[in-house]
This record gives sequence, structure tokens and C-alpha cells, in this order.
Amino acid sequence: MSAVAGHALSLQRVSKRYGDFVAVQDASLEVASGQFLTLLGPSGSGKTTILMMIAGFVEPTEGRVLLDGRDITALPPERRDFGMVFQGYALFPHMTVAENVAFPLRVRKLGRAERDAKVRAALDLVQLDRFAERKPSQLSGGQQQRVALARALVFDPALLLLDEPLSALDKKLRAELQEELKALHRRVGRTFINVTHDQEEALSLSDEIAILNHGHLIQVGAPETLYERPATRFVADFLGKSNFIEGEAEADAGGFVLRRGAARVVASGAPRAGRTLLSLRPEKIALLPEGATEDNVVEGRIASWSYVGTGYALTVMTPDLGNIRVHLPAWRIPVSPAEGLPVRLGWARDAAVAVAEDPGSPVPGGVA
Ligand SMILES: Nc1ncnc2c1ncn2[C@@H]1O[C@H](COP(=O)(O)OP(=O)(O)OP(=O)(O)O)[C@@H](O)[C@H]1O
Ligand SMILES: [Mg+2]
Repeated sequence: MSAVAGHALSLQRVSKRYGDFVAVQDASLEVASGQFLTLLGPSGSGKTTILMMIAGFVEPTEGRVLLDGRDITALPPERRDFGMVFQGYALFPHMTVAENVAFPLRVRKLGRAERDAKVRAALDLVQLDRFAERKPSQLSGGQQQRVALARALVFDPALLLLDEPLSALDKKLRAELQEELKALHRRVGRTFINVTHDQEEALSLSDEIAILNHGHLIQVGAPETLYERPATRFVADFLGKSNFIEGEAEADAGGFVLRRGAARVVASGAPRAGRTLLSLRPEKIALLPEGATEDNVVEGRIASWSYVGTGYALTVMTPDLGNIRVHLPAWRIPVSPAEGLPVRLGWARDAAVAVAEDPGSPVPGGVA
């Protein structure tokens, strides 16, 4: 593989409508050269549509697609020269692995010697050099996916588009190929744009994640930023799990206090006033042992619990804040969980973050 840098891609206010139906609404996005960006969202949120507009197979109704600052909105797909691996994107069954990988090079009319060298290098990259002469039917699903990756990379595309390339695989194999994909990205230094609805995949692979819902790009940022500082309820809920606490906020010295009935929850961050929604991750809550205290302490009883291998998932019923989900590693649980057991929950004031309601979602309690 040559040392070509990746391309920078940007979407400027891109929309796609099918009749009255809006598949993508006013999406703007910057993908820097060499970056691994993941489009993450539920089924039907517009991920494939965005990828197809980047690839050139779907024409935006509005907006522009730029490559290194150049407008490519009207450029046909074959002239964009992007590598692509789509969900269920089939290999040619009658061709060997090597012939499949050589195909894009034949189309580009490369000479035999150069072609062979590139095919070998690409198969090496996905660790399938030993399988060059097999037919796809003689490979496992994961190996076939890797051949598809090799075929997408063999012509040195500076941009690689991946639409759920791993979704058909079992969890363990998927995790292995995720590692490989990440290593591959580091090795080739190209720009990768990956589509998934697997939150863990998005968190572990990406430099940046773009979260989509109903055709809207809700938030774009580094995985840690999105997880720790979700902008909206949807982001907090989709990227992991969260508890939501709603109440009336007023500023205090360290941030703000949220009142909900008799309860008071202190939170840090910019002072807020009025109706406020807090997101509180289950793993940021502790079960307090006798005598211990925290910035926030809430009494409750265990309503249900389950052992989940990495620890315990509890639902704690609290008179003040309703049901609260808590995830604890086994070594941090001071009691044996049992239904009905009284417990005290505690969390630091910087554990919860204020999030916005999502555009178009109903306002709880009818308060505008
Ligand atoms: N050609 C089309 N005509 C009409 N509607 C379409 C067309 N293509 C896509 N849509 C609609 O646009 C929306 C977004 O589709 P898209 O395929 O981008 O979703 P997605 O996020 O990739 O979902 P999934 O995770 O299920 O693959 C969907 O509601 C879909 O039904
Ligand atoms: Mg899709």
C-alpha cells in the first residue's frame, strides 16, 4: 500500500427526501483526513442514506458533498474511487479469493505483475494470504468479510465506506474483526467512514461518532465526549444506558441543585435554572456501606437484580426519584443483593449531566 494520505470529507447541509418523507434532514459533518468516523443510529435513522450520498449512489435533494474542499455532489460514484464494503455485499462466487480481490484492479486495467503484488499485499493485510486460491464458499463468514475488505482496499482508495460490514457475524468474531479493522485503519492511515447500530463497536473503533435519529444528526464528537457529555436524552440513552431525573433547577455554588418533590440532587457544571433533565449513568452510582456518605444520597429498596458477568445490574425503587438503575462490579457491592433489601445510593455531584430533550419529542408534563 502506498503512503497516500486519506481524504477529508464534508457534508454541508445535506438533505434527502423521498416524496414527502425526509430520510436525512440538514446534515452537516466534517471528517478529517485519516479519521475513523462512525455513523451510529437506530434502524431507519438515515445511516445508509448518508453513506450512499457520500458514495454517490444517492443524490442529495439539498446540500453539498465536498472532498478535500472540492464539490463532488454531482460526481458519479465510479469517478469518486472510494472503497466500499456494504452489508451482505457479495463476493463473486465463481471467482477465487485472489480473483475477487484482483477485480477492482482489472477494472482499472493494471498490468499482471502489479496486480498480483497488490492482491498479495491486500490479502496479507487482512491475514488471508493462505486462502488466495479458495472459493468464497470455502470460507467462514468472517473470512468472507475480510476478503470484501481486501477487495475494497486493494486499489488504495483514500476513503473507505463501510456499511455494517460485521453485522452478520456472531459476537465473538465481530469483536475480533473490530480489532482487526482498528489495526487496519492504523496501518493504512486512510479515512474510514463506518456505519453501525452497535454502540460498543462505535465506542471502541471510532475517532469520532456521529449520532443519528429520524434523519437528524444529533451530536458529533469523540466517543468519550458523547458518552460523558451527551447533548440530548436520545444520545445518553442510545449510547449506553442512563437514568433520567427531571426537576426544577436553580444555581448554587458548585453548579446547580435540582428539586424534584422532596428530593434535592446537586450537580456540577454551568449553572441552570428552570426545568432541567439530568442523565445519570448506572455505573456512576454506588451502594453506600453503613456510615458512608456522598454528595448525593438517596434511600431505596432493590426492586430487581441480575448477575451480568461483569457485575450486578440492580433496579432500585426510591420514593423520591422513582426507579434507578445501578451497575456495580462484583467487588463494589457491599451486600448480597436481594429483592426488597433497603439500600442507600450515592453519587458525586459531577456524575450527572444536564441533557436537552430531543427535537420533536413531547415535553413531559406538558410544560413548554
Ligand atoms: N429509495 C427509498 N425510497 C423511500 N424511502 C427510502 C428509500 N431509501 C430509504 N428510505 C427510507 O429512509 C429512511 C432511512 O433509511 P436508511 O436505509 O438510511 O436507514 P438506516 O439508518 O441505514 O437503517 P438500518 O439500520 O435499518 O440499515 C428509512 O425510513 C427508509 O425507509
Ligand atoms: Mg442501513
